[in-house]
Amino acid sequence: MCGIVGYVGKNDCSEVLVSALSRLEYRGYDSAGIAVFENGNINVIKAEGRLKNLENKMENENFPKGSAGIGHTRWATHGKPSDINSHPHIGGEYVTLVHNGIIENYRELKEKLEAQGREFYSETDTEVVAKLLDFNYEGDPIKAIEKTLAEVTGSFALGILFKDIPNVIYAVRRGSPLIVGVKDEEGFIASDVPAIIKYTKDYYLLEHDEIAKIAEGSITFTDLKGNPIDKELKTADWDMDAAEKGGYEHYMLKEINEQPDAVRKTVAPRVFHGMPSLEECSITLENLKDIKQVFIVACGTAMHAGMVGKYAIEKLARVPVNVDIASEFRYRSPLVGEGDLVIIISQSGETADSLEALRVSKALGAKVMGVVNAKGSSIARESDMLVYTHAGPEIAVASTKAYMVQIAVMYMLSFELAFAKGRIDEGECKRLTAELMAMPERIAEIIKSTDEISHEAAKCLIDAESLLYIGRGFDYALSMEGSLKLKEISYIHSECYAAGELKHGTISLITDGMPVIAVATQSDLFDKTISNIKEVKARGAKVLLICGDGFEVGEDVADMVIRVPMYEEMLMPMAAIVPLQLVAYYSSVLRGNDVDKPRNLAKSVTVE
Ligand code: M6R
Repeated sequence: MCGIVGYVGKNDCSEVLVSALSRLEYRGYDSAGIAVFENGNINVIKAEGRLKNLENKMENENFPKGSAGIGHTRWATHGKPSDINSHPHIGGEYVTLVHNGIIENYRELKEKLEAQGREFYSETDTEVVAKLLDFNYEGDPIKAIEKTLAEVTGSFALGILFKDIPNVIYAVRRGSPLIVGVKDEEGFIASDVPAIIKYTKDYYLLEHDEIAKIAEGSITFTDLKGNPIDKELKTADWDMDAAEKGGYEHYMLKEINEQPDAVRKTVAPRVFHGMPSLEECSITLENLKDIKQVFIVACGTAMHAGMVGKYAIEKLARVPVNVDIASEFRYRSPLVGEGDLVIIISQSGETADSLEALRVSKALGAKVMGVVNAKGSSIARESDMLVYTHAGPEIAVASTKAYMVQIAVMYMLSFELAFAKGRIDEGECKRLTAELMAMPERIAEIIKSTDEISHEAAKCLIDAESLLYIGRGFDYALSMEGSLKLKEISYIHSECYAAGELKHGTISLITDGMPVIAVATQSDLFDKTISNIKEVKARGAKVLLICGDGFEVGEDVADMVIRVPMYEEMLMPMAAIVPLQLVAYYSSVLRGNDVDKPRNLAKSVTVE
């Protein structure tokens, strides 16, 4: 994920910026760049690839040390990794900036600016906000920022240089994090504490729509109207390891908390005038129209995301979808051929069975769409069509944010496919897309509201030897992932069953006190799931129910209920997965396990 840094002070600015950027490498990036003031000019240098490339280029070009500047590591979302698309971006005569996050309405803004005669050199949303800010700038940075922020939508943080205000950095954020560090006369900006912890542990947390002005020996904060704001100075008490986890105890918890941003980055750039548009991934309405059937092939969590995709695509687009475990698919002579779409979902893009399934499908004449998180990975390279998920690097072995963005892509695809097939009209497609666009804020709320109760629920589970997850429809697909999450990091045996299937054998496992986790978020299936819950309860099960807050649940139904707000029902897996992830996380913590590196597991499974 992109990282921002900035420095004003007596030291060699270029060196401080590169060193600070190196502390953000763990976030993942594909290019880097810096901009520094020197003698009234702003010098910009950028390079695709590792930071070392940037350093070599700086040395070869004798890049100035600079007196103040900004730097950036880019994780490509809009446009491929390249020198041109790297930050900083130049907006015109005055503005040079770096950006983290997403400008959702960048295409509309670009059209407007082009109509005003502004020309664009990159494919990025960042250049659009740089050009817009430059366009709005009439000598007063605060007014220009205010005007610009009134026009842009999305979640972002910006570090800005104005050419006529030397040695000063302006910073503003909406959604994406940004901190302002301070040490004596020096000032810093950064996306994350690790970037500056080598220099200072004292920092301010910039809040939504606050502007910071960083000059040597002075840091001031205002709102968008220029009214001064008093801020509390914080002191990081982290070591480097904790700092890289953003202050969270484990990467898994950090990554659960990164889900809203990951969804935003994955969805927003692909919405144009309210409609989903995967055209940049070579997926057009024209080529979707003729698809006869879909195969979704993946492993583990990615396969569970495919299950959600199956329910969504079949419900909306009425196209048959088979979900396959990649290690089975590749050896079972699959009935795949021309006119079929095979979707390979993979976080790492290197899973051996998924990669082989891709090759088998292509050999049989099917078109393959990769849904991949790791840029430039084998599955990404070999797919006919490619949708990158923008979760950023996922370090915990237990996948959380990668799953969340995989299902977000499945929804986008189901909307677009349904529209292409004439199964839904433009109004409905826009309505569903707007619901999806609203999910990041909702997910953030649910993380907050279910954290404590999920912790409590975990306390009731940790002594269990075995437990069951049950659900119907989307809730079944989701429960499969909940069950995997729990077993892989807590080491408690668990199975997931379609709630209606219990009576066909599994219910004989229920003994007094056995935990059952039931998920019920779909109104058409709610009563049926409740009946299944009653059946296990009558046999002694201790039931944890995760359900929509609009449903009435009798007192005798569950021992504990975790409620999540009800949204568009087909999107409920994005809401209900959160407490399931948290229950698994806290179960692992309470059992004293190595949460991020569970035994016997590897993050990327490159052997079959
Ligand atoms: O990298 P991939 O998405 O292809 O990996 C597939 C599975 O190994 C992976 O989803 C695994 O099940 C998760 N790490 C479990 O949390």
